[in-house]
Amino acid sequence: MNPAAPGTPARGRFLTFEGIDGAGKSSHLEAAAAWLRERVPEVVVTREPGGTPLAELLREAVLQRPMDALTEVLLVFAARRDHLQQVIEPALARGAVVLCDRFTDATFAYQGGGRGCDTAQLVQLESWVQQGRQPDLTLWFDLPAAVAAARRAAVRAPDRFEAQDEAFFERVRAGYAARAGQWPQRFVRIDSDRPAVAVRADVLEALAAHPGARSR
Ligand code: TMP
Repeated sequence: MNPAAPGTPARGRFLTFEGIDGAGKSSHLEAAAAWLRERVPEVVVTREPGGTPLAELLREAVLQRPMDALTEVLLVFAARRDHLQQVIEPALARGAVVLCDRFTDATFAYQGGGRGCDTAQLVQLESWVQQGRQPDLTLWFDLPAAVAAARRAAVRAPDRFEAQDEAFFERVRAGYAARAGQWPQRFVRIDSDRPAVAVRADVLEALAAHPGARSR
């Protein structure tokens, strides 16, 4: 990679991975991080909810404690604010590539689509908390809810979200589709109802093709 010209402010790249539970995004995120580490000086891998000590505490509560949908929204945005301030913004200012396992599209998909929260309120919180920050590239791992459910059943005990029924996950999926329609320039849909090797090839192709992910 070429170093930035003297006097040019460092500017990183913010990449997010999204999809319903069981889409397989987390293992592809590891492969993407390894690929990027060979090409850029700094890669920061993080996740939401989480990524800071405070945000990880909030994650634990959101995933395990019973609460209503608006409380979920407020906790994930509180966690996001801390994560942005402590980790994401400083890393982008250093010029790092930040790879984040879920971000605000998940709130629109799960709390908006899945739980039926008012998306106009989510838009207000998004703008208040993020101050204009959006991912440069979002890889959306898309597959039918029934296929994802079968994959989840094979590997782990469910948390509060994973325990939801197939109809919930089809609404979450529709929530992602709606966000992808609103942000076509940053979303890349990856058909995840295929063998992992084919999905992985698409992930690396998207990273190589997208100016948000290439080394500068
Ligand atoms: P993970 O298991 O992929 O790390 O995601 C944790 C769970 O949190 C997942 O079921 C989706 C959910 N979630 C939301 O409901 N809203 C959000 O804003 C985020 C970031 C995650």
